[in-house]
Amino acid sequence: MSVVALIGAQWGDEGKGHLVDLLASKARLVIRYGGGNNAGHTVVNHLGTFKLHLIPSGIFDPATVNVIGSGVVVSPEALLTEIQGLEDRGVNTSKLFVSERAHVVMPYHVMLDKLQEEARGEGKIGTTGRGIGPAYADKMSRSGIRMADLLHEETLLNRLRGVLEEKNRLLTKLYGVKPLSLHDTYLRYLDFGHKLADHIADTHPIILRALEKDLPILLEGAQGSLLDVDHGTYPYVTSSPPGAAGACQGAGIGPTRIDSVIGVYKAYTTRVGEGPFPTEIDGPDADALRQIGTPWAEVGTTTGRLRRVGWFDAVMARYAAQVNGIDTLAITKLDVLDGVQTIKICTAYKLHETTLEFPPATTAVLEQVEPVYEEMPGWMTPTTAVRRFQDLPDNAQAYVARICQLVGARLGIISVGPDRDQTIMAAEVF
Ligand code: IMP
Repeated sequence: MSVVALIGAQWGDEGKGHLVDLLASKARLVIRYGGGNNAGHTVVNHLGTFKLHLIPSGIFDPATVNVIGSGVVVSPEALLTEIQGLEDRGVNTSKLFVSERAHVVMPYHVMLDKLQEEARGEGKIGTTGRGIGPAYADKMSRSGIRMADLLHEETLLNRLRGVLEEKNRLLTKLYGVKPLSLHDTYLRYLDFGHKLADHIADTHPIILRALEKDLPILLEGAQGSLLDVDHGTYPYVTSSPPGAAGACQGAGIGPTRIDSVIGVYKAYTTRVGEGPFPTEIDGPDADALRQIGTPWAEVGTTTGRLRRVGWFDAVMARYAAQVNGIDTLAITKLDVLDGVQTIKICTAYKLHETTLEFPPATTAVLEQVEPVYEEMPGWMTPTTAVRRFQDLPDNAQAYVARICQLVGARLGIISVGPDRDQTIMAAEVF
């Protein structure tokens, strides 16, 4: 298999960075295809612990080419900080390329993201405040600025002049805040362009060559399918399509070239930000799942917010598998359940007297559903040192098998700890 998409299949934070880091040793090209620095991938490997926001997790393997694809929205400032942070720790970033077609997150996007959230009051989405929604909105309304524009003085000035006039009217007249200076913004972004010039490229030939040579390619997802702007829990979603279709679109690879879609699922469920979460729990079980004080602690990588936690929701999980064509499951953080006596899985929703097989589209309805739980006995044994499926305690094997059965895909990978080697490979991936 040469083209594999690894996508989050819940509400993000499923532990994708950890798996991409592992699979990157087999891939020759890793492509981040969507989202922006709202993402946060924690990677723990022989070089230490890293928090990546924009750079593909394949960066730690010197033989791997890493691409930030056309579907990503890029904060040049965040990217430069990330590059510098990696270089300072001895990680070579010379094989990192950013698509010249990728859109730029501008300072007014960040300002508007925060101002719009404030204005939403009680109805806030709980965005990461990184300007992602406004940047995608501008892309779609064709007033975006792209990475290539940062390398062309005249284009940048002309595009910025037109856009900034409108944004400044919005900032001053609607929100009553200070306008941005055209001169300062132009010079600042031109400077970012100069600093990133070696990385900004036409990534299409790079990807095409890898496809022609049949090299193993990994499409690295960010966020998760339930945050998908089309298929997620709208409006409590991000502004991009983080799933398999988004992988094709954002990387510039046709759907017929994808050989496998790996859905990454945590062995339970978490969510950051607002929005419906049918299997959310509180109390001692929730505290156990949060794992505060450990490398697995359920704290948002980007915003430091405490994650909401709950039981595995097979209704949402199956739906994510269906809309993305997930054929292989990667189940992460199984070890977090090591000390949980009785584990619940939500197999259906009840809405009044009706049993629902699929998640309803409307938030107000989704907030009313009652999860139907199945209970499974925990294994109460550490699994962090296990490396083969058959060596897992029987109850853990049964739990994993039940998840695969409910979701409807084969088992591929299980992770039992934050380190690269704390992984059980149950199927060949490349
Ligand atoms: P935005 O992407 O910053 O606009 O935020 C929209 C929603 O997506 C919020 O609920 C965020 O918490 C959530 N979100 C965005 N990126 C991530 C991520 O990488 N992991 C988990 N949640 C995310």
